[in-house]
Order: sequence, then C-alpha cells, then structure tokens
Amino acid sequence: MKILGIESSCDDTSAALLECSKGGCFVLSESTASQIAIHKKYGGVVPEIAGRMHAEKIVPLIEHALNGKKPDAIAIASGPGLITGLIVGVEAARTLSAAWKIPAISVNHMAGHIHSVEVKSQKSKVKSIGYPALALIVSGGHTEIIKISAPGKYKMIGATRDDAAGECFDKVAKLLGLLYPGGPQISKLALKGSAKAIKFPRPMLDSNDYDFSFAGLKTSALYYYRDNPKVNKADFCASFEQAIVDTLVGKMTRAIKKFKPKTVILCGGVSANRKLRETLGTAVKKISTKSEFLTPALSYCMDNAAMIAIAGYQKAQKKEYADWRKLSADPNWELGR
Ligand SMILES: Nc1ncnc2c1ncn2[C@@H]1O[C@H](COP(=O)(O)OP(=O)(O)OP(=O)(O)O)[C@@H](O)[C@H]1O
Ligand SMILES: [Mg+2]
Repeated sequence: MKILGIESSCDDTSAALLECSKGGCFVLSESTASQIAIHKKYGGVVPEIAGRMHAEKIVPLIEHALNGKKPDAIAIASGPGLITGLIVGVEAARTLSAAWKIPAISVNHMAGHIHSVEVKSQKSKVKSIGYPALALIVSGGHTEIIKISAPGKYKMIGATRDDAAGECFDKVAKLLGLLYPGGPQISKLALKGSAKAIKFPRPMLDSNDYDFSFAGLKTSALYYYRDNPKVNKADFCASFEQAIVDTLVGKMTRAIKKFKPKTVILCGGVSANRKLRETLGTAVKKISTKSEFLTPALSYCMDNAAMIAIAGYQKAQKKEYADWRKLSADPNWELGR
C-alpha cells in the first residue's frame, strides 16, 4: 500500500510517499523544508514563526511528494511537539482523509524516530528491527530509553528528568557563540580537541535506574566557561561531548545487559553524532554478539516524513486507523508511559 507521511512537529515540514509491504517500506518521493535558517537568528525555535512556516510549506510539499499519485492512507505525526506545528499537519491530514475517503493514522513522533532505522530509499539499504528491541531516542526535546517487546508495544523504561541531550548540546553551543542547532557545531569542533582536557560530570551515571539528567552538566559547562573564557574551544567541545556520550552509553549498557534485546536502536537528531554512534556500536558488540545495532542513515536522523509513514504502516497492518473527525494534535503525547 502507498502511505503518505506528514511531519510538522518542530522546525521541519516534511511529506513523503512510501510503498509499503510486508518486506518493508520504500521511499517513492519525499520533500522536506527546513526552517533552521530562520530560527538561527533567534538561537532556537520560535513556535509562532514555526507554525506560520509550516502553514506556508505544507501543501506544496505534499503536492510534490504525491506527484499526482493518490495514497491508500495518510500517516500524520500528531504529537509530541509544538502545537503550532502539529495542528498544521493534522489539519492537512484531516482534509485529505475526508476528501479522499482514505484512512488517517495518528503516529507518535518518537515512534517515528524509532522506525527511521528502517527507511529504505535509493540511498539507504536497511535491516528490519528484530524484537524485542531497545531504543535510545536522543533528540532536541527528548532523551528516552524505550523497550519494544513486539511491533507497536512500547514501554518507556527511562527518560531525562530535565533537559534533553540535544537541548544541552544546543544551549552549551549558544554559550560558546555557535549557531543553532549547536550539536553538529560542537561535534565538528570536538574533532580537533582532546576529550580528556576537562573533566565534566557524568550525571546520574551510577544511579540504579535508566533515567538521565543533563541540567547539571549544562550548568557545569556554563561555570567552567565563565571561569575560563580563554579555554581552547575544541578541547571544551570534545570534553563536553565525551561527558554526554559516556552518560548515554553507560545507561544504555545497563539496559542492554538487563533486557538482552535482539536489536539495539539509536535514533533521534543526536544520533547523527559520530562519537555516539561509534561508542554505542562498539559497546553493543562487546556486550553481546547476538544483538544487532541499528542507527538511521545520516539523512534520516533529523525529523522526516518517511519515518512517520513507516510507523504508520505498522499501525495500518493492525487496522489502527483514526477517524478524521477525531484526529487531534497532542503536544504532550508520551510514548510508552
Ligand atoms: N552531530 C550532532 N551531534 C550532537 N547533536 C546533534 C548532531 N546533529 C544534530 N544534533 C541535535 O539534534 C537535535 C535535533 O534533533 P531532532 O530534529 O530529532 O529534534 P526535535 O525534533 O527538535 O525534537 P523531538 O524529536 O524531541 O521532538 C538538535 O538538538 C541538534 O543539536
Ligand atoms: Mg524529532
């Protein structure tokens, strides 16, 4: 079946048409409009501006992705995210679902990130997720460990108690005068520095759970920079990045040992970080040769509609459709709580 995916939960408007069957989902066409250039000026995403930009872009992007074809269903990321963006995508999905009399599928954006590892396109060959699986989702707004016992059966076993890892990267980058989004800038600078130069804390690494906390690390980075304004920025970035990677991989290691998953997934915007991909990949191999490590192609780490369509296909197989009359955006929809 052909599924149209729509994504508008933050600062990317995206539409994609995928051909899905039991063998997996293949991207027929996709188009994404990033708002980064606009939000850069403000050092972060401005919800009001984001909503307007989504409204401007969504129809042309859907039209481009469909290229004259009619889908069999529409998968829409209806939460979590910014309400100003979510409602634009939800209303577009509702309109098409009602006009074409095709089912709509309400998809959790974080479930979308999990399925980003399965996006098959001309550029990316992929393996399917084997179950049970364990996912580390690290993005701008979330840092969570999700246990997936079977397709669609999510249980959140840990999450950040304050800032998300991506948010921490972005705020510390701002402190250093780097542009939004800061994660890629920090990791680029980190390549030239020493990860051992500064000993930043690894928050909650030894706590007997799967939770995270990054607010203290952010404050520690702030104080260090305030007291050492002439610090070598590359060393600062490498040490800071290492603290985040050690914390994430440490907690994931504990979870993998406990739950022995068939597949370990690393996803979300921060999964584009090379050090994190390499360190977690190595840790998985060391813990168990039976676990497969999956992480998205770099082009599917950030928000995209293809991952939403795949998460939608999984629900479509169980006929978990949403009536267009009842479709609604839920900015606080937590996966597996
Ligand atoms: N190479 C990198 N290293 C570290 N962080 C990165 C890298 N590339 C991107 N990021 C971070 O990824 C985040 C964006 O990811 P994503 O688009 O998934 O988040 P979001 O959609 O805004 O949030 P959420 O998915 O929680 O709603 C930003 O915080 C950005 O700094
Ligand atoms: Mg996201």
